[in-house]
Amino acid sequence: MKVLVVGSGGREHSLCWAIAKSPKCDELYCAPGNAGIDGIAITVDIAADDIDALVTFASETAIDFVVVGPEGPLVEGLVDKLEAAGIKAFGPSAKAAILEGSKGFMKDLSAKYNIPSADYGRFDEPDSAKEFILRHQAPIVVKADGLAAGKGVIICRNQNEAYAAVDHIMTERAFGGAGEEIIIEEFMSGEEASFFALVDGQNAVALRSAQDHKAAHDGDEGPNTGGMGAYSPAPIVDDAMAERIMNEIIYPTIKAMAAEGRPYKGVLYAGLMITDEGPRLIEFNVRFGDPECQPLMLALKSDILEALIASADGTLDTISLEWHDEATLIVVMAANGYPGRYDTGTEIKGVDDANAIEGVYVFHAGTTAENGSLRATGGRVLGITAKAKTVAQAQKLAYKAVDKIDWPGGFNRTDIGWRAIKR
Ligand code: AMP
Ligand code: GLY
Repeated sequence: MKVLVVGSGGREHSLCWAIAKSPKCDELYCAPGNAGIDGIAITVDIAADDIDALVTFASETAIDFVVVGPEGPLVEGLVDKLEAAGIKAFGPSAKAAILEGSKGFMKDLSAKYNIPSADYGRFDEPDSAKEFILRHQAPIVVKADGLAAGKGVIICRNQNEAYAAVDHIMTERAFGGAGEEIIIEEFMSGEEASFFALVDGQNAVALRSAQDHKAAHDGDEGPNTGGMGAYSPAPIVDDAMAERIMNEIIYPTIKAMAAEGRPYKGVLYAGLMITDEGPRLIEFNVRFGDPECQPLMLALKSDILEALIASADGTLDTISLEWHDEATLIVVMAANGYPGRYDTGTEIKGVDDANAIEGVYVFHAGTTAENGSLRATGGRVLGITAKAKTVAQAQKLAYKAVDKIDWPGGFNRTDIGWRAIKR
């Protein structure tokens, strides 16, 4: 069959890499892709958010199946438009992608269906938001309702910080239209964990546990990023915890979405706080985590394409996923300055040397090839991913490969996986 993957990051590189191994895949396309994807897939120069151009391309090329990577086009209804054009696609409809697209929707849903999450208030003007803050204890969390590229969350240590956060989002419009509404919620303490399940409207299959490191610098210090590294499995989510998460959060959400007339298909990514009382929901994403997807794809033994099609077809009850015994770990290399201002166009050398190491695969996240040289085009640029017996060994192998990369324009954390190794 002909498959199109939509997106240009490390997540999409790893999805292309895994899909290309499927005997079901005859031709693989990626829009827009990157320099690493070029070679596995035929890259097509259409942006991931150019919905109409993607639908036209998929129709004209007679694509059989589309896998949508990022949340933006899902929230904008790419899957709906593809299905209307008779093209099967992996990912939720716009009506279901609202789980990530509106934090307020997700909070109301969890309150209505008793899905454990932080207590909250939802506001469309600053005065009542501030009144709510006055009546609640700090620390307290202020969030823009809409998509804000992972930046719309402000943890406030006291009430003054919370007032300032409300002004920042609602009055100064720091996140534009995403801040038309805000959520103010209870601060939950515990260790954070991510959880991924494939969902087909009714059935769900959990993926192997994986955990990212969101902070820019070693020791989980510094500004929040999309993720500077990740590993799988993650000891914080053992089998018993995974079962609780499926029963207390994933299945109740699938039932709730169906009851609301918004059946959920695709991958459901729950951001969780593991508290003393058990798992509580921080947020949902409607896509694979990036970079968590990369170590998951490297660890997966089963045919990913078959599983993604089963999610679209509603036949996940016939699928069980098999995983390699080894642990996998990814170290993200980002442009100097990320997540703040950074330069693009800097030259990267040594990727072939890193890839030549047994058990290592370099996923590209933001690269382009220019006259035979590799150039950085994004904030997160490469993901050096390794597979070995334990997380500690995978970490060692990944950093051995990182040492082969010659890129003065970039940096990486040196402690990815430390939480799992410390246990
Ligand atoms: P989100 O974009 O909703 O995942 O939030 C970004 C980060 O803010 C999360 O990964 C958590 O570290 C933190 N966070 C969000 N909501 C809460 C909460 N209610 N309590 C504690 N930490 C939170
Ligand atoms: N790694 C976090 C995310 O994909 O949102």
